[in-house]
Amino acid sequence: MARSPALQVMVQAVMKAGRSLRRDFGEVEQLQVSTKGPGDFVSAADRHAEDVLRAELTRARPGYGFLMEESGVIEGTDPDHRFIVDPLDGTTNFLHGIPIFAISVALERSGVLVAGVIFNPATDELYTAERGGGAYMNDRRLRVAARRDLPDAVIACGVPHLGKPSHDLFREELSRVQAQVAGVRRFGSAALDLAMVASGRVDGFWERSLKPWDVAAGILLVKEAGGFVTDMKGGDTMLSGGSIVAGNEHIHPSLLKLVK
Ligand code: IPD
Ligand code: CA
Ligand code: CA
Ligand code: CA
Repeated sequence: MARSPALQVMVQAVMKAGRSLRRDFGEVEQLQVSTKGPGDFVSAADRHAEDVLRAELTRARPGYGFLMEESGVIEGTDPDHRFIVDPLDGTTNFLHGIPIFAISVALERSGVLVAGVIFNPATDELYTAERGGGAYMNDRRLRVAARRDLPDAVIACGVPHLGKPSHDLFREELSRVQAQVAGVRRFGSAALDLAMVASGRVDGFWERSLKPWDVAAGILLVKEAGGFVTDMKGGDTMLSGGSIVAGNEHIHPSLLKLVK
C-alpha cells in the first residue's frame, strides 16, 4: 500500500496525538473536564491532542488551514487546502474508561475530500483512505460488508444529545429500524461508526446533528471501501448539514428509506 506524502504527514501527526491520548487515558481521573451542553463534555485530553495535531500538521504543511473541533476555523495562506480535525471523537467513552474513541483527520483540496485518517489508540487500529486509492485498516484493504437484506444487517447509530430537536426524531427512527434489522449498536464515536461500515463490521450507520470533523475522514473511508454515503434526504450535504446515512449498495438505500 503506497501512501502519498500528505497522507504520511497525517498518519505521523495522528500517531503522535494518539500517544498523548493514551497517556491521558491512563490518568483519566486527573483530567479537567467541562461541559459544552447536556451530555457534551470536553477535557484536557481533547485539548492536548488538538495541540499536538495542530503543531505537527503545521510543521509539515505550514500554509494549510484548519477546521478543528476545539479551536474552530484557522485560516491558512494556502486557500486550496485545509485539515478537518476531531482530536478526540468519543470523549464520553474516553472519560468513562471505555476504549472506543478515535482521532479523525481529513484533508480537503479545493473543497474535495482527498485523504482521511482515523486512529483508535486503545486498539492500535489505524484507518486510512485516499481518493481513488482505496481504504485500509493498518495494511489490510477494506471492503464494505456484502449483506443485502435488512433482517441480516447490524446497524450502528448515534443518539443526539439531550435538548437537540433531533433527539425526539431519533426515537421514531430507532423504532422503525430496530423492527427490521438483526441488531442496532451505539458505539459512541461517529468516526469509528463509519470506519466500522468501511471494514464491514457493521452493515450501515445513521445519525443526525453531527459536525464536519465527526464525519469528514469517515465519509472518504466508506466511499473508498466501496460503500455509499448520503445525508438523510439522499443528498450530499453530509459535511454541512450534519445528517448521515452509510452502508453498502443494498443496505444504504433500504436504511435511507427507513430513516428519512
Ligand atoms: C461525538 C461522537 C458521538 C456522536 C456525537 C459527537 P465527540 O463526538 O461522535 O458518537 O454521537 O454527536 O458529538 O464530541 O466525542 O467528539
Ligand atoms: Ca466534543
Ligand atoms: Ca466528534
Ligand atoms: Ca471531539
